[in-house]
Amino acid sequence: MPDVSTEAARRRTFAIISHPDAGKTTLTEKLLLFGGAIQMAGSVKGRKAARHATSDWMALEKERGISVTSSVMQFPYEGRVVNLLDTPGHADFGEDTYRVLTAVDSALMVIDVAKGVEERTIKLMEVCRLRDTPIMTFINKLDREGREPIELLDEVESVLGIQCAPVTWPIGMGQRLKGVVHLLTGEVHLYEPGRNFTRQDSTIFASIEDPALEARIGAQMLTELRDELALVQGASHPFDAGAYLAGRQTPVFFGSAVNNFGVQPLLDFFVGHAPPPQPRATTTRMVRPAEERLTGFVFKIQANMDPQHRDRVAFMRVCSGRFVAGMKAFHVRAGKEVKLANALTFMASDREIAAEAWPGDVIGIHNHGTISIGDTFTEGETLAFTGIPNFAPELFRRARLRDPLKLKQLQKGLAQLSEEGATQFFRPLMSNDLILGAVGVLQFDVAAYRLKDEYGVDAGFEPVGVVTTRWVRCGDPRKLEEFREKNAQHLGLDAAGQLVYLAPTRVNLQLTAERWPDVELLATREHA
Ligand code: G4P
Repeated sequence: MPDVSTEAARRRTFAIISHPDAGKTTLTEKLLLFGGAIQMAGSVKGRKAARHATSDWMALEKERGISVTSSVMQFPYEGRVVNLLDTPGHADFGEDTYRVLTAVDSALMVIDVAKGVEERTIKLMEVCRLRDTPIMTFINKLDREGREPIELLDEVESVLGIQCAPVTWPIGMGQRLKGVVHLLTGEVHLYEPGRNFTRQDSTIFASIEDPALEARIGAQMLTELRDELALVQGASHPFDAGAYLAGRQTPVFFGSAVNNFGVQPLLDFFVGHAPPPQPRATTTRMVRPAEERLTGFVFKIQANMDPQHRDRVAFMRVCSGRFVAGMKAFHVRAGKEVKLANALTFMASDREIAAEAWPGDVIGIHNHGTISIGDTFTEGETLAFTGIPNFAPELFRRARLRDPLKLKQLQKGLAQLSEEGATQFFRPLMSNDLILGAVGVLQFDVAAYRLKDEYGVDAGFEPVGVVTTRWVRCGDPRKLEEFREKNAQHLGLDAAGQLVYLAPTRVNLQLTAERWPDVELLATREHA
């Protein structure tokens, strides 16, 4: 009979962060191959294509070459259960990515050997730093000419502000790529395109002293390698598990995802050293994974996964206890018991009905809009997980309806799309406008497309005089009422009914903040 602490300790839940094109999809595919979760390379892309076929709006996603949705993949490896939470790659979909990162215990950063640290990586790294998330680094595309490895480590250290501890080190690069040396075990893994799918299918020497190695890579290269290793070992940081777990040091690996090279040393090290589920903060106490009772929080909502059924799936990260199919759980915000029937698990091969799930796992709960991002589920205790942020959007448009009779559908569509978290929906107190806020401009196209496709509403978006929003909070009800009266023309409600200040200019916002020192105007709101 499995128990909570053993099952929790086996879990490794992580996400891959990278700049678009660095190789996240390719690496994901190879990791799944090692997990035995898929049979053939190319399956991840194949899976993407299959999903496109089931939902038309995703044609937009395909057209634009971006991934709007993120998913969850689970596979077993070496006695562990790995949960890989996919993050959407396009810069416009930042918020969704941020929330995925609140649901993981560690991250894997992929860097293109020729491009080094790119802008999106910097942003994602900042998010990881908020929670001191431990990060491993994979420097990819070694089969191509790139920058000097030492120089790349320097760049990671100076630009990202994290110590590097190389765990593998490349032997050559591009045309001259011969393999990698594992600095901790001493093993040498040879680079042989088309192979390396298992340890048996790889050529591995126990150390660089193995006489057969020279025959394979040549005397000159071996001498160069010896010199370089002496240099690296003198100049870099040795791996320090404590520093890694505290988010101060990143173990670094080199390889070529598309050639499946250098991936196995990474995965082996990952399951050995990456943290299992960690205790998490709530409004009342820390929750430990090994607790017997189920707790979890929702970090993502996806509407209309199946256009035949107008339902939504709430992705819940299990934080403690055991989930069993059909069990009842307490939906804290609603104050209600609900039956978690037909919950989904996310095996990499397909979505399946969950029989059980443990800390670190993610389950998908079908619902009709009753569950929101940030919601906590327990077995009766009233507590709420903290740290799942809602960011003030930066771009605003007013919805313009081409058929006035469809107002109800428009409202419903905007509200439901906002539940997914990528856009936010505001209703000004003084007008009948419907305002959509987004972090990126592409989201308005996505919203228009989906309104038409899923709700039959023909709507466009036009400029509106709002530059930013602030959630309004005030401990003194009389002051708040006064603030409401005096500023009614700039106030509105968000989809959750929370009071929001819709600032027409930055100057106006600043003056308002100075004039009302007792009223807090917040740029982020934790999901209530
Ligand atoms: P992403 O999810 O981070 O956006 O990157 P993705 O894996 O889609 O990879 C981006 C491109 O880089 C792909 O090429 C992929 O084949 C290539 N790539 C990934 N890993 C390696 C590697 O180790 N070496 C080399 N040389 N290329 C690599 P593409 O032309 O955009 O797509 P495709 O037609 O090859 O699939």
